[in-house]
Amino acid sequence: MTATPTAPAGTQGSTAPTAPADGARRVIIRTVGLRKSYLKKGVVTEALRGVDMEILTGEFIAIMGPSGSGKTTFFNMVGGLDSPTSGRVFIDEVDVAQLTAVELAFLRCRKIGYIFQQFNLIPYMTALENVTTPMAFAGTDPDTARNRGMELLGTVGLRERWFHRPIEMSGGQQQRVAIARSMAHLPAILLCDEPTGNLDLKTGREILDLLKRLNTERGVTIICATHDPRMLDLCDRLMWLRDGQVERVARREEVRITIGKINNETE
Ligand SMILES: Nc1ncnc2c1ncn2[C@@H]1O[C@H](COP(=O)(O)OP(=O)(O)O)[C@@H](O)[C@H]1O
Ligand SMILES: [Mg+2]
Repeated sequence: MTATPTAPAGTQGSTAPTAPADGARRVIIRTVGLRKSYLKKGVVTEALRGVDMEILTGEFIAIMGPSGSGKTTFFNMVGGLDSPTSGRVFIDEVDVAQLTAVELAFLRCRKIGYIFQQFNLIPYMTALENVTTPMAFAGTDPDTARNRGMELLGTVGLRERWFHRPIEMSGGQQQRVAIARSMAHLPAILLCDEPTGNLDLKTGREILDLLKRLNTERGVTIICATHDPRMLDLCDRLMWLRDGQVERVARREEVRITIGKINNETE
């Protein structure tokens, strides 16, 4: 018997998403006029200045933009970690601002997985314990949590290292554990904030390939803030933020064409 909370109205269906056929895609995230201002020491920073964006189930979106352009702020709003100054975020057409504290906690813990530049693993726990801890908090029974934890560590290629602590693992391995942990509840959405920022090129590539695999095999919608140009190969669309506004949204093919043109012109 598990103490798994019941899905609040409008947030069911988040587990085990399967890759939808193209025609079956629906809007999973919608932001409308999203604005966020910070007030610090009497100075107002407009981190987001009206962002309208729609993201479909199973999409892999790269968010590009210079440091300070609002990428992390956008993530915090979409992930329900902070609230907008004005504007709305809809997840599966449910207005996040209308959720009760319990429903919001459910959304954060079940529907969305978070991956950060810093791996944020608990240092004294093994890889397996790091992956199973969120399940324990959610009331999953220990055997189920252990089996699922081992399966997820297998998915990220670390099954044999389940007993290693973070200090005994490379940065890439730690990020894999963090990815396995973020998948503990089979979230429909993975928010990745510069996931390769602390990794060397080769390891970063492996992490991006892993994210792509989760996207295609499990149908997880992935939103990935990055400076990494290799993201171009993996994503379906790119969104560029500049000074808190959407500068451009383009499909990968369009960007390839643009790059091709630039190359031709400079040859
Ligand atoms: N908690 C905060 N308090 C004050 N200003 C903030 C805070 N968080 C972000 N900012 C400011 O908002 C802007 C956007 O920041 P951020 O979303 O972190 O950009 P990015 O992730 O693209 O580097 C920056 O000017 C930043 O200094
Ligand atoms: Mg950031």
